[in-house]
Amino acid sequence: MATKFYLTTPLYYVNDIPHIGHAYTTVAADVLARYKRLMGFDVHFLTGTDEHGQKIWRAAQDKKEDTQKFVDKMAQGFKDAWRVLGITYDDFIRTSEERHEKVVQDVFHSLLKNGDIYKGEYEGWYCVPCESFWSEGELKEDIDGRMLCPDCGRETEVLKEESYFFKLSKYQDQLKEHIKKNPAFIQPESRKNEILQFIKQGLKDLSITRTAFPWGIGVPDDPKHVIYVWFDALINYISALGYPAGEEFKKYWPADVHLMGKEIVRFHAVTWPCMLMALGVEPPKKVFGHGWWTVEGKKMSKSKGNVVDPLVLAKEYGVDAVRYFLMREVAFGDDGNFSMESFINRFNADLANDLGNLLNRTLTMVEKYFESRVPSPQSPVFDDLSKELVELTQETPKIFDQHMNNLAFSNALAAIWQLVGRANNYIEKEAPWKLSKAGETDKLAAVIYNLCHVLSICAFYLAPFMPTTAEKMATQLGFVPPITLKTKIDGVKIAKGQPLFPRIEK
Ligand code: MSP
Repeated sequence: MATKFYLTTPLYYVNDIPHIGHAYTTVAADVLARYKRLMGFDVHFLTGTDEHGQKIWRAAQDKKEDTQKFVDKMAQGFKDAWRVLGITYDDFIRTSEERHEKVVQDVFHSLLKNGDIYKGEYEGWYCVPCESFWSEGELKEDIDGRMLCPDCGRETEVLKEESYFFKLSKYQDQLKEHIKKNPAFIQPESRKNEILQFIKQGLKDLSITRTAFPWGIGVPDDPKHVIYVWFDALINYISALGYPAGEEFKKYWPADVHLMGKEIVRFHAVTWPCMLMALGVEPPKKVFGHGWWTVEGKKMSKSKGNVVDPLVLAKEYGVDAVRYFLMREVAFGDDGNFSMESFINRFNADLANDLGNLLNRTLTMVEKYFESRVPSPQSPVFDDLSKELVELTQETPKIFDQHMNNLAFSNALAAIWQLVGRANNYIEKEAPWKLSKAGETDKLAAVIYNLCHVLSICAFYLAPFMPTTAEKMATQLGFVPPITLKTKIDGVKIAKGQPLFPRIEK
């Protein structure tokens, strides 16, 4: 039976339409899901939308729309965007769905019963846009004495209310132990250190209900309270699987990896595992917090008017170019900057020049010298250069797999481009046109065969990143998709087509 692999993205807030930051995590998850499927895993890929809380309630109020209708419309916007970007999620959960609300209420109820949830009173500084309470020490004070949210910089408000609490403090030692015993639980390393620092200061019980607004999942038997949006949303990772009795829950939990931006690692690496411990459920295997994108050097925000819409980019330059850029431009884990200049540079250099030209030149030569059939040489190796290329072709899959298993997407792509670069160089050095002139047919056959082999490896491994491109490559190379590593390439009739990535003229 295939090994299972369960991966998730955060549930995105529906107060706004998806931007390049949301697309980043979702594309990364999709690349990983497609890769794991390619490797024979039984993959379950979950994404969805976070639809409760004050921020969304206010967004609907501002627009004078019925809240449910508003979230319905916005959630559809996320689904539409993911369809365009080729996201192959297996399930899309919305926190306003009954299947989710029921599980959240059951979880609340059972933790209340076992004493891990209790009633008290909360007073604190609350940031509405971030849906977060902050302690006084964490806030920044501006010159007018306003207390600002350390995350988004906006003014916080004091909120005092009767509230239910989750006994986070009780699980502090167990959590520390878990992190120690499972070195790969929080990644990258820098995020782990931040979390350990945070736990060291001591975990305080968490206020998990609100009374100031009505938009949320009601507390069972105490309807003036709604459950805090984060406590509600985190549960999606198990409610979507039909926790506690569902077949999918039994099959896929624990999650192999929760992917997210670095700003919400704390919720996933502290609150969430403690909630699961309270329920007697195993924590996820890995929480990975990637970096943040800025745009032309600035934080992306509506007020700055610099929000990049991935759909606009995809329409102009193609979905695969967007997916490629996001995964290649920065190491997964580091912060990155989006600029039109770097996007176009990568497009022209990596896609149009390196990859596009390699395919085009190679297939032109198959047409010209071998009547459109990939040749079968006596031996692919006839000199040092061929030996080097053949060895690198054999090595590349191993390097690629290693990087993919470390979620080092950019390095995995770099490994493919190293091979592409070497192959382009090989053409220059071997000069097939000279071999043809000199009548060295067998050497010529070896050169062209080696190049086609490189291209078939590229088509196979690029499929998770650039599914349409990989398919086009396979078709041009004469394979009936899906291409596998065992596909025999010699003797195949090619079908050269249009260039994959026509250069963008600036
Ligand atoms: N609803 C919560 C998550 C609940 S998960 C149970 C939330 N939603 S969000 O809409 O604000 O999405 C945040 C996530 O979107 C980030 O963690 C990251 O995955 C992605 N990104 C949003 N902006 C981003 C950038 N500028 N750069 C990179 N990723 C970003 O938080």
